Amino acid sequence: MIVPGDLDDLKRVAQIDRSGMRELLLRFPEQLARAWQLSVSVPDFERLIVCGMGGSAVGGDYLRVYLTHKRFPKPVFVIRGYELPPFADANTLIFAVSYSGNTEETLSCVAEAVERDCHWAALTSDGRLAELARAHGAPIIQIPKGMPPRTALGYLFLPMLKSLQCFLDESAVETELTEALDALKKLAARYAEAPEAENPAERLAHAWHGHIPIIYGSHGLTDVVARRWKAQINENAEAPAFCNVVPELQHNELMGWEHEPHRELFVYTLLRDPDEHPQIKRRFELSRSFLEDQGSLVLEFSGEGEGLLARLLSLSYLGDWASFYLAILYARDPTPVPLIDTLKARLTQ
Ligand code: F6R
Repeated sequence: MIVPGDLDDLKRVAQIDRSGMRELLLRFPEQLARAWQLSVSVPDFERLIVCGMGGSAVGGDYLRVYLTHKRFPKPVFVIRGYELPPFADANTLIFAVSYSGNTEETLSCVAEAVERDCHWAALTSDGRLAELARAHGAPIIQIPKGMPPRTALGYLFLPMLKSLQCFLDESAVETELTEALDALKKLAARYAEAPEAENPAERLAHAWHGHIPIIYGSHGLTDVVARRWKAQINENAEAPAFCNVVPELQHNELMGWEHEPHRELFVYTLLRDPDEHPQIKRRFELSRSFLEDQGSLVLEFSGEGEGLLARLLSLSYLGDWASFYLAILYARDPTPVPLIDTLKARLTQ
């Protein structure tokens, strides 16, 4: 049984975190720096598709938000499924992303990319994806093996951005990355070591403990982080969590809370950003007062730093640590995902 203050007891944490996720979280800033060294050269293209699932799709989400925000003029799509969209053709650049290299949805998209003569590159640590890339002469961004994919977000995001840097303001991206690295180094120390009262990740885990986190992000900005937080809670803490997007949720989901008899079960977590559309800002504020008037607990967070990279990655990092601490509060080793592994194994039988 974990009691308040126990999250500061590193011995107790290590007894539960048997597979060592804390160490991977601590080394995330270092991972970002290493990941920024990796890239492939890409030809000019008309549209970009990132194919991947779960932890390997998230980098595509962050890339899409980043590029869109920087007014990158070409469309960017993230495909989480077995089939490429009909417009994928020889003028399409595809990043096939699978940490293990063995995710069947991603491999199926690669087979289509080969058939349709798309220009594709593999981002993987190993597996069938690396074999296919070698067999077809496709470039490979080789990332280190042995990590749970969701802890490898740096490797699964930054090499794609680095490969596309020539289409962007290169020095501006470098400046943003430096800022992000500095911010994350400071946050690593804070989330790992600050005592509970001064540790936002530990406090958030306590607020979620015994409740169902509902996470709201803003369209085209923090919605990707909300999705990431939800998945991190699901996989690290093996707990349910749900996410949605402002403004869409105010056209449907909000109605669902009106008569909810078990309101105390849910904790609402709003992910804000200074660049959100002025109407989205108002909508967040209105949602917040509606939920609070109903007696619900509403928490609010935003990323740290000036640049979008620092803001997205720091906000994401808070969710990584909070979901880690939530796993500790539930006394669950944050690393294993046995159900996902069983499903994958059954599908190959
Ligand atoms: C994250 C995780 C899953 C995988 C997903 C796809 O740690 O375990 O979300 O990322 O099942 O597998 P990969 O990333 O190997 O393509």
